[in-house]
Amino acid sequence: MINLIEKLYCTENLTDAELKALIEDNSDEVSSHLAKRADEIRQKYYGKKVFLRGLIEISSYCKNDCYYCGIRRSNKSAERYRLDRSQILKCADIGYKLGFRTFVMQGGEDAFFNDDYICSVISEIHRNFPGCAITLSLGERSAESYGKMKAAGADRYLLRHEAADEKLYQKLHPAEMSLDNRKKCLYNLIETGFQTGSGFMVGAPFQTTDNIISDIRFLQKLNPHMIGIGPFIPHKYTPFRDERGGTAELTLRLLGILRLMFPKVLLPATTALGTIAENGRVLGLKTGCNVIMPNLSPEEVRCKYSLYDNKLITGGEAAEGLSLLKSEIEAAGYEVASERGDYVSQHC
Ligand code: 5AD
Repeated sequence: MINLIEKLYCTENLTDAELKALIEDNSDEVSSHLAKRADEIRQKYYGKKVFLRGLIEISSYCKNDCYYCGIRRSNKSAERYRLDRSQILKCADIGYKLGFRTFVMQGGEDAFFNDDYICSVISEIHRNFPGCAITLSLGERSAESYGKMKAAGADRYLLRHEAADEKLYQKLHPAEMSLDNRKKCLYNLIETGFQTGSGFMVGAPFQTTDNIISDIRFLQKLNPHMIGIGPFIPHKYTPFRDERGGTAELTLRLLGILRLMFPKVLLPATTALGTIAENGRVLGLKTGCNVIMPNLSPEEVRCKYSLYDNKLITGGEAAEGLSLLKSEIEAAGYEVASERGDYVSQHC
């Protein structure tokens, strides 16, 4: 197995059979060697830097009905909210003063946030906070909409493909949603010039190792700038309430594998990973991750943006919360970068 890690480290690829063997090996020896090599590669391109992204959850309204997600439209128990322009700008202002240089506007698919509204907020953030990157995570939209948002100054876009295997995609989503459209959106985003992120949940219901290999192969085709993976965590008001969640061990193994396959990718240690494992995000950093996304949403709405149960709420809003995170990052041997943290090839 160590030889497979070495092959992956040297060639950035493995056969399906090799990948399967590596993904399914949960020995400590594999975990620690993978972490060591992943950390080496991440340091080669990004040094010890950890980029912070200030997450602003702008709307918990969603027209979609994904079976795993707590803000699906059929969840009548969800309290819905949307932030207005001044609330979003206030979050960015607080974040800017705390040193954030990327803001991520994320939300459910909410028609209220039409192109004009989003574009004017993008322009205003740029005007008020020069030198910052703007990331959007607003789901599937038309190519024209992506074009307008890019022209208005958005830099990056996150849209997980969720499951690259058609059959699994259909088990996780209602028939009205399509994998083809999701993929088309991702290619449109790249074509539009966005630094684009994709990804999937680890341990989603019905997911097999072969499904994970399909996800990895899709990512190799897409070649995104960012990859977001985190464990599936059941939410009590969804059809998957009784399903088992993904594990931190498998998530970490996949993060290590992804770092070796995509040496320059921006790889977050996700909130979901931090939610299921104590110290999960620091373990992620030690296994190739180089991004953390603290929450900048107003405190009163945080619990309403509930994608899964017991979501970790990291204090990015309060100076103490952030300094605790910073000291954890530093204690792990990394440093918090005070830059936008773009994909590395764009600097070279
Ligand atoms: N567990 C973990 N991740 C989830 N997401 C949605 N619901 C869950 C859940 N129950 C993820 C999806 C989505 C991202 C915003 O959050 O992958 O793309």
